[in-house]
Amino acid sequence: MTYGDILVAQGLVKSYGGVRALDGAGIRLRGGEVHALVGENGAGKSTLVRILSGALTADEGVVRSAADTRIATVSQELSLFPDLTVRENLFPNRPPRRLGLLDRGAMDRAARPVLAELGLDADLGTEVGELPLADQQLTEIARALLRTPRLLILDEPTSALPAAAVDRLERVLRTLTGRGIAVLYVTHFLEEVMRFAERVTVLRDGRVALPGVRRAEVDVPELVTAMLGGRPEQPVRRTRAVVDLPPPVVLSGVSVPGRLADVTFTVRSGEVVGVAGLQGAGHLNALEVVCGRTAISAGRVDVGGRGLPRSLRDAIRAGVAFVPSDRKRYGLMTDRTVWENTTAVSWLGLGRGGFAPSRAELVCRATDLTERLRLRGGPYDVVARLSGGNQQKVVFAKWLATEPRIVVLDDPTRGVDVGVRAEMHRIVGELAAGGAAVLIASTDLAELTEVCDRVLVFVRGRITGEVSGGRLTERVLAVAMQRGVSNPPSG
Ligand SMILES: Nc1ncnc2c1ncn2[C@@H]1O[C@H](COP(=O)(O)OP(=O)(O)OP(=O)(O)O)[C@@H](O)[C@H]1O
Ligand SMILES: [Mg+2]
Repeated sequence: MTYGDILVAQGLVKSYGGVRALDGAGIRLRGGEVHALVGENGAGKSTLVRILSGALTADEGVVRSAADTRIATVSQELSLFPDLTVRENLFPNRPPRRLGLLDRGAMDRAARPVLAELGLDADLGTEVGELPLADQQLTEIARALLRTPRLLILDEPTSALPAAAVDRLERVLRTLTGRGIAVLYVTHFLEEVMRFAERVTVLRDGRVALPGVRRAEVDVPELVTAMLGGRPEQPVRRTRAVVDLPPPVVLSGVSVPGRLADVTFTVRSGEVVGVAGLQGAGHLNALEVVCGRTAISAGRVDVGGRGLPRSLRDAIRAGVAFVPSDRKRYGLMTDRTVWENTTAVSWLGLGRGGFAPSRAELVCRATDLTERLRLRGGPYDVVARLSGGNQQKVVFAKWLATEPRIVVLDDPTRGVDVGVRAEMHRIVGELAAGGAAVLIASTDLAELTEVCDRVLVFVRGRITGEVSGGRLTERVLAVAMQRGVSNPPSG
């Protein structure tokens, strides 16, 4: 059975300041179909979704939809009220009333079958903030379903969901499309696309790279090619001397419940090792283990010859420098000067020196570091006044000051410009050349191919592959990250 068009968008343009988020994108959504929307980070997917749902106005272009098309959107950032109950969150606008009072009975009668369909087993009176993240996500989906939309838009709905919940979601979507509803489904999980979707649209740099093709006409490698475009496939070759000492980072059979399963790898001195995976694949948990931020349930860990670090402080004592992705929270004291920030770790006596040096000595050291990093700003400048890229250099400088033997980087160049990015990469190379063991995660696959000697690929908590040498390209990584993501058929 086929249904007609529910929504057609054409020639959409949207700029944020100088950034063209959409540059002539369009999409055609038909009733009775799940239409997947895929593309790299920043390709414009959420911007398109916001325009289709009316939350954002396009600079140019048209969106036409069938009369009385009700659209319900589950957005990428959860929009529930954490201190309201599940029941209150499910009926935000027009809750059923009886004699002027909220009709709890009616709410619950409406909500229960939807929650049951999704497999959400939560008390309707629970505050949403107390639910695990996956259940919050299901609550958000339930709320959208209760609006009985003709078009349901899901922006990365499965990033927090366990496999069983994804299976249930798939069944729910099947039921909906069976009733003629259109579903737009945004995801990074390409295996999921192949299971869920009748059609796929690929966005690249705000444009349509593949327009609503039928699932049968594409496969995962072709989708990856459309997402990446014609970027050069040449791997970056380098030769780096690896020091033949006991490796500073050793994980052997390490498990963390629900996160990592039997993970084994080493990072040797002089080596830059990357970890890659889709959201929730476990690669970031591996970094956390090395930094002493996660307890393990099985396996053996040795960091800097001191066993398993029990805290970040412990890890720092073992020689670890950790550059986090959330710099605002962990990386910097933005109201302090450059010299205070760059020398904070060694100043606390946490660095390998052990002694607290004099202030003059610290400023001197800071100056030295900022010159090495070509920082725009002097040691007495307050960090808050530096540009984002220069702030990031201060984070680096802070850790260089400790002369780390082990460097752990989580998305070190997110949001910095190409010049700073190149300098960071040069520094990473220098650290390795100086004998550090470097472990890096990045949402930017090009970054991994540029700085790493080899990259460990994680899928659902396990290392499923290692890519190095001539095979280390974005494309190979992107395809490897998808493998094994699909669930075995259930039932
Ligand atoms: N409110 C905003 N202000 C400025 N720039 C923005 C804003 N929202 C998005 N952008 C920029 O527009 C581009 C497209 O962003 P968008 O959120 O649509 O991407 P996406 O495909 O959803 O990415 P992701 O997979 O990371 O969710 C990016 O370059 C982003 O930085
Ligand atoms: Mg998005």
